Amino acid sequence: MPDNSLTIALSKGRIFEETLPLLAAAGISPAEDPEKSRKLVIATNDPDIRLVIVRASDVPTYVRYGAADFGIAGRDVLIEHGGEGLYQPLDLQIAKCRMMVAVPQGFDYAAASQPGSRLRIATKYPRIAAEHFAGKGVHVDIIKLYGSMELAPLVGLSDAIVDLVSTGNTLKANRLEAVEHICDISSRLVVNKAALKLKHRRLQAVIDAFSAAAN
Ligand code: ATP
Ligand code: PRP
Repeated sequence: MPDNSLTIALSKGRIFEETLPLLAAAGISPAEDPEKSRKLVIATNDPDIRLVIVRASDVPTYVRYGAADFGIAGRDVLIEHGGEGLYQPLDLQIAKCRMMVAVPQGFDYAAASQPGSRLRIATKYPRIAAEHFAGKGVHVDIIKLYGSMELAPLVGLSDAIVDLVSTGNTLKANRLEAVEHICDISSRLVVNKAALKLKHRRLQAVIDAFSAAAN
C-alpha cells in the first residue's frame, strides 16, 4: 500500500502566518493555531497530513532526516545549514527581508572596511558574514549570537552586525544604520529527496498548489 501520509515542518510566527494562504491553496487547514497551543504536532483537516512546529533554524534538519517530508525555511537558514540532502523546488516569496551589515550611526564604515582591515562582527549568520567579508578582503572576528544582534555594537561587543532588515525599525530604534546589502532573503519550500520519490504524487500536488498560489 502506498504511504499517503505527509508531515510538514513549519516554524511559528511570520513563516506560519504567511504559509497559511499557501496551505489553504493546497486544501490544507490546521486544526489549531500553534501560537495558542503548546502542541508540537498539529492535525489538519486531512487525516493524512500533519504539521510539526519547530524552530525556524531546525526546519532543514527535520526535512533532511525525513522526520518531515517537507517544510518552509528562510534562505538565511538554508545558507547557514548548507542545504545538503534537500530539494528546493520553490521560492515562495514570503518572509521577505534583506541581509545587511549595520553599524552605529556616524561610524565611518568605509574607512573601517578597507581591504586588509579588521572588524568585529556580531551575528547569528557566521557563514554568510564570513563569506561576505572574505569577498571584500576584510579580516573579521565573528561573534556568534542567537538574537538581539542590534545590542552588540551599542555595548562594545562588536563594531558591526550582520542581520536581517525589513522595515528598518529595529535598526532605527537602536541608532544603527545599514551600510551594506549582502543579499535578498525569502523563504523556500524544502523537500526530503527520498520522500519526493516515494510520495511523488502527493508531494507534487502540494508543490503545484504552492507554486500557483505563490505567483
Ligand atoms: P529561530 O527560532 O530558529 O532562532 P527566528 O526567531 O529567526 O528563528 P523568525 O523570526 O520566525 O525565526 O524568522 C523566520 C524567518 O523569517 C527567518 O529565517 C527569515 O528568513 C525571515 N525573517 C526574519 N526576520 C524577518 C523580518 N523582520 N521580516 C521578514 N522576514 C524575516
Ligand atoms: C528580525 C531581525 C531584526 C528584525 C528586523 O528579528 O533579526 O532584529 O527582525 O526587522 P525590521 O527591520 O522590520 O525592524 P525578529 O523579529 O525575528 O526577532 P528575533 O531575532 O528575536 O527572532
